[in-house]
Amino acid sequence: MKNKNIIILAIETSCDDTCVALIKGGEKKKLKIKVLSNLISSQVKIHQKYGGVYPFLAKREHQKNLPLLFEKAKKEAESASRRSKIDLIAVTVGPGLEPCLWVGVNFAKGLAKKLKLPIIPINHIESHIFASLLMPTGSNSKFDCCFKPGFKHLNNMFPIVCLVVSGGHTQLILMREFGKYKILGETRDDAAGECFDKIARMLGLGYPGGPAIEIEASKKVKGLKFKVTLPRPMIHQKNYDFSFSGLKTAALYNYKKQKPNVKKSIDYIRAMSAETQQAIIDVLIYKTIKAAKDHKVKTIILGGGVAANDELRKQFKYKLKTLNHKVKFLVPSKIFCTDNALMVAITAYYHWVLGIKKDWKKITVNANLRIENEI
Ligand code: KG4
Ligand code: ZN
Repeated sequence: MKNKNIIILAIETSCDDTCVALIKGGEKKKLKIKVLSNLISSQVKIHQKYGGVYPFLAKREHQKNLPLLFEKAKKEAESASRRSKIDLIAVTVGPGLEPCLWVGVNFAKGLAKKLKLPIIPINHIESHIFASLLMPTGSNSKFDCCFKPGFKHLNNMFPIVCLVVSGGHTQLILMREFGKYKILGETRDDAAGECFDKIARMLGLGYPGGPAIEIEASKKVKGLKFKVTLPRPMIHQKNYDFSFSGLKTAALYNYKKQKPNVKKSIDYIRAMSAETQQAIIDVLIYKTIKAAKDHKVKTIILGGGVAANDELRKQFKYKLKTLNHKVKFLVPSKIFCTDNALMVAITAYYHWVLGIKKDWKKITVNANLRIENEI
């Protein structure tokens, strides 16, 4: 490659957001990035009716939006940089919703063939982890950002325990070095975000449920007429697994036994929201700290849509202060927690910098891709 820097096009369509980003990555030693474009087309309004993501509808929206977003991103990149010719394509290949993933992957493959470009397949979970290295530098729509000072070279960070909590996943992952992962535990049924979404739907709070529950929970004031108590599933089991479907069922039983006027009352909705949020937070923090202690990690990384929850972030930081040994804590800025293509672009940049070789031609989708397996 003639140029020392690299222009990366990143595509993310694993769930219900169509995302495209274009970045310029600096030469290998410098690890610098410039965001040329970062676009997200959210389908929230479409899926709101269903209270969750409807995969075939999401696929259709991705098909409609992706080419438009790509054209717009290219234009933005042309005006943001003297050189904007794409050198490399990065695309999320899994895990995620299969029909949705194929839209991004087919688009990437078509473009790679036409422009004779290499592709780096990206694991969605890995990109949520790498989002924690970014720091926004402005407040414009491109989400301008740089690497957090002191962290970009990943020096003195390993071993790391990563908690990725989203609408589709809840996993505790041990990272011994870049690219070397071991899943320590994961949910046996529903993901944490899914639990937020389902309980919010039950309460009539709409989709996505996490932010809606967070708002109601924050309004919980002393003197509420109701006290809701929910279980903390699997919290004391000697493993790093989670189970959130039992929590959802307990919430449903509690709801069903209430009188109609109580169910709809704002006091009950707030009490239920606060207890749901706290039950999820308690289990997530307890298990992550246990994994961090057992594996003597130097760093904890939190990522995924649920990581945008302020109370979770606050309580994690508080808990870490009370530990005997010092652990670094990295969490993405809230705008980088939910799905975006910037996190895909920077993950691909690390792959490029560290020279991790992939068979770029045999790229395919794997809806159940595991981070510990090679793509
Ligand atoms: O990572 P993400 O954008 O998509 C997946 O990969 O699934 O995560 C979306 C999930 C949804 O379940 C949503 O309710 C949850 O993240 N979420 C939140 C918050 N913001 C988004 N959960 C709790 N609190 C929030 N503030
Ligand atoms: Zn995600």
